[in-house]
Amino acid sequence: MSIVTIDRDGDIAVVTVNNPPVNALSQALRQGLWDAAEALDVEQGIRAVVLICAGRTFIAGADVSEFGKPPMEPHLPDLVGRIETATKPWIAAIHGSALGGGFEVAMGCRFRVALDSASVGLPEVTLGIVPGASGTVRTPRLAGVEAAVELVTTGRPVKAPRAAQMGLVDAVVSGDLRAEAIAFARTALEKPLPPATSARPIAAPEPGFWEAQETAIARRAKGEVAPLRALASIRRATEVPFAEAMAFERATFLDLRGSDQAAALRHIFFAERAAPRPGHLADVAPLPLRTAAVIGGGTMGAGIAAALRDAGLPVTLIERDAEAVERGLANLRGIYAGAVKRGKLTEAQVEARMSGVTAGSDYSALADVDLVIEAVFEEIGVKRAVFEQLGRVCRPDAVLATNTSYLDPRAIAEGLRNPARFIGLHFFSPANVMKLLEIVPTPDTAPETLATGFALGRMLGKIPVQAGICEGFIGNRILKRYRAEAEAIVRQGTAIAAVDKAMRDYGFAMGPFEAQDLGGLDIAYLQREGARAAGQAVHETLGDILVRAGRKGQKTGGGWYDYLPGDRSPKPSDAVAALLAAHIQPGAALDSAAISARMVGAMADEGRKILDEGIAQRASDIDLVEVHGYGFPRWRGGPMFAA
Ligand code: 3HC
Repeated sequence: MSIVTIDRDGDIAVVTVNNPPVNALSQALRQGLWDAAEALDVEQGIRAVVLICAGRTFIAGADVSEFGKPPMEPHLPDLVGRIETATKPWIAAIHGSALGGGFEVAMGCRFRVALDSASVGLPEVTLGIVPGASGTVRTPRLAGVEAAVELVTTGRPVKAPRAAQMGLVDAVVSGDLRAEAIAFARTALEKPLPPATSARPIAAPEPGFWEAQETAIARRAKGEVAPLRALASIRRATEVPFAEAMAFERATFLDLRGSDQAAALRHIFFAERAAPRPGHLADVAPLPLRTAAVIGGGTMGAGIAAALRDAGLPVTLIERDAEAVERGLANLRGIYAGAVKRGKLTEAQVEARMSGVTAGSDYSALADVDLVIEAVFEEIGVKRAVFEQLGRVCRPDAVLATNTSYLDPRAIAEGLRNPARFIGLHFFSPANVMKLLEIVPTPDTAPETLATGFALGRMLGKIPVQAGICEGFIGNRILKRYRAEAEAIVRQGTAIAAVDKAMRDYGFAMGPFEAQDLGGLDIAYLQREGARAAGQAVHETLGDILVRAGRKGQKTGGGWYDYLPGDRSPKPSDAVAALLAAHIQPGAALDSAAISARMVGAMADEGRKILDEGIAQRASDIDLVEVHGYGFPRWRGGPMFAA
């Protein structure tokens, strides 16, 4: 089938786009649509044109893989204009997602009809750019300035019913989209046509609107430039004629397209899409995943259970005794109560989620499950005892996984029958929210087991990344190095608060010391103490000194900073200065840029070692780990990309 085909239903032409996987607007597709517009303009007997797409979605946008290359004709803004000025009205028939350039094409059509399951949006800012084919200029004409600002500056798509309320689509239909769109076209032809989108006026917003938006968006964007540039483009569209606004938008688009931020965001975009289906597992079929179990109902176990339930898997939750079972269920309910409070789930949905959970302390309930994830206390003896029981009760082909973050999975699996089905699945807390999943095979893990880990990642909507065995795998190993670098900078005479500020300026939500105060300094301390007790040479960190002085973070009223009761804002601490004084060499304090360069440089250096040792499969996986597990600013592309 060619990329654009035309067929006819009486006096309505149907233009079908077929450019798998997502009908992205490659040069060939733009040309195909242009040619269709030319041909249909002069075809006798045709009164309207329905534009519809084959496959899983309407046009999902410009072809991002063309962004590194010089723009080729026909340019997208011209194509949108060509469709808008066609002699017969075009009707976009939307299923799946009409995104970016795809939605811009739809806005060039005289009408938009969408399936109720469809969504529309302008996600360009998530790629570090602004819409480049009238998204900032036509959207306010269709839906008003406020809706345009929401859509364009957040990049978040909206579902068809909401899009209809906003004025972005004209009709929401269900069933046979093609038939519905043709019927819509026939009805529409009976009345005078509405003006083309570009000819519609824009109502000016309330006084002070732009200033308020600028402040709010700048605060949210934390250094990311595209959202503010998009706002400026919408503002311009309200102030100057259409053609002038288009020129302004295009110039902004082309400027940002070549920017470092856009390159970084494209890097993450493609890395995220490559991650769930690694090439080396292309020919390996995963095992079926119909039921799952979680051992341990603590914060992590309950979070994993919630993630499994969110994906629709029935879950068996196992704890030591009746009391612990109740606590585990309460933890799970607590997670869902939070989701209800934030409007993410209804009470009825929570009931449905909970009704899919069977909880108890009897391992025999696991006789037929497909997958078990162990999330018990991080102690080798406790974990081994769990797997010893699992080995006895589970089917020989059930996948058995540990959620350990620091222990050696090989040691956990020691003595397990059929170790080929054993694997590490390292979730990040809160496990039902955080996207990252480190998948850690042992030398014994079968390819099918590994492929099943990735299949689970896809099922849960996670970003799965394969990690080899070393202390801390990819993420926590880099975190350790990152914290060590932060301490080294402080030891050399830069203030603790300056390091935190530098990393916030770089784009992290929190600096390394503030983050430790929030999470607690004692966990890493206990790990170091454990290693010392086991005879390893682990030298004293500044954090050790603070913990020994009772400063474990916010929960003890102080860590790297002091905290006033009921106040989470960190205050530089004289007590800390006194405790650490002997360890700090008076020297020249580093400025923000030098601090972040050293911190990110240290992460990248550790990343290179991780690659050299084969712990990570590729540099982009390390970037995904940092972006999705550790708050590395997405628009910087991750430490490997940044370096
Ligand atoms: N360009 C090129 N390739 C794209 C693409 C795009 N815009 N969108 C998706 N793809 C590719 C993916 O890389 C992936 O390739 P692979 O199979 O080789 O790995 C394949 O299409 C399938 O993508 P997903 O795995 O993401 O498929 P899903 O079905 O899960 O999701 C989707 C479909 C919701 C359309 C999702 O792909 C998506 O959100 N795509 C990005 C949409 C986007 O950002 N559009 C705006 C582009 S910028 C623009 O239009 C500028 C304009 O204003 C000028």
